[in-house]
Amino acid sequence: MKRYMILGASRGLGHSFAHGLPKGGDEVILVSRTEPDMSSLPKEIHPQWIGADLSKIESIDALKKDVGDKPIDVLIYNAGIWETKRFEETSREDIAAICNVNFVSALYAVQQFIGNIKASKLKKIVLVGSTAGLENEGAKSVTYTATKFALRGMCHSLRENYREDGIGITVLNLGGMATDIAYTQGAQEALSQYKNTRIPVDDVINLVKCLISLSPASTIKEIDMPAQFDADS
Ligand SMILES: NC(=O)c1ccc[n+]([C@@H]2O[C@H](COP(=O)([O-])OP(=O)(O)OC[C@H]3O[C@@H](n4cnc5c(N)ncnc54)[C@H](OP(=O)(O)O)[C@@H]3O)[C@@H](O)[C@H]2O)c1
Repeated sequence: MKRYMILGASRGLGHSFAHGLPKGGDEVILVSRTEPDMSSLPKEIHPQWIGADLSKIESIDALKKDVGDKPIDVLIYNAGIWETKRFEETSREDIAAICNVNFVSALYAVQQFIGNIKASKLKKIVLVGSTAGLENEGAKSVTYTATKFALRGMCHSLRENYREDGIGITVLNLGGMATDIAYTQGAQEALSQYKNTRIPVDDVINLVKCLISLSPASTIKEIDMPAQFDADS
């Protein structure tokens, strides 16, 4: 039995992770502000939703109280928001929320749950980044880009600290995805709707399955996965 914790799991890629990763007997803790539809999850897995607003880092303390010391095999930090206006027009509140949701809560969640991860069998942390966080990528967002770049630094620095504990930390630098087409709808639906221009969530789920299946002797620090036709990375 594996236990997954997915932060940012009510819709999009996070919701699809909850459908595509756990197998019979596994447990999955879904974290988000909105309660996810759990009716479509495979019957043989054990889901639990915990409501939390990750723009407020105190919410991680409440989350830790709820989860306690249960081992967590795979922690996926997927929550992400982005600016909708030009940098000069983005409010201080919006900048703070993007920083907290995309990066500060990720850092704090790993700090709070590191004992749960150490106590597990698989010991994997997956950070959902973006190709926007790669050097010279050309993204016009400022705060989003900075937070996704920060996740890469977090991945490398955590590795230096937790190498001896056997914890595998990976940041996925992902390009344009069809996250509005759920895993349950199938990759073909995403390929047809977007004419092969956006990555189906199935591809990302397959990548994470591969990470989870590696032996404890291997670790993958970063994966850059632009969509084939993305012109910016
Ligand atoms: N879509 C793309 O093309 C693309 C490309 C590269 C990278 N990414 C990254 O992939 C990840 C998933 O993207 P997506 O398209 O699936 O996004 P999405 O559909 O907007 O889903 C984002 C998830 O994050 C959660 N979230 C947002 N704000 C939150 C908050 N304050 N507290 C708790 N949870 C919060 C949302 O839940 P609630 O709103 O219910 O709280 C939701 O479950 C993000 O990190 C994004 O940056 C996406």
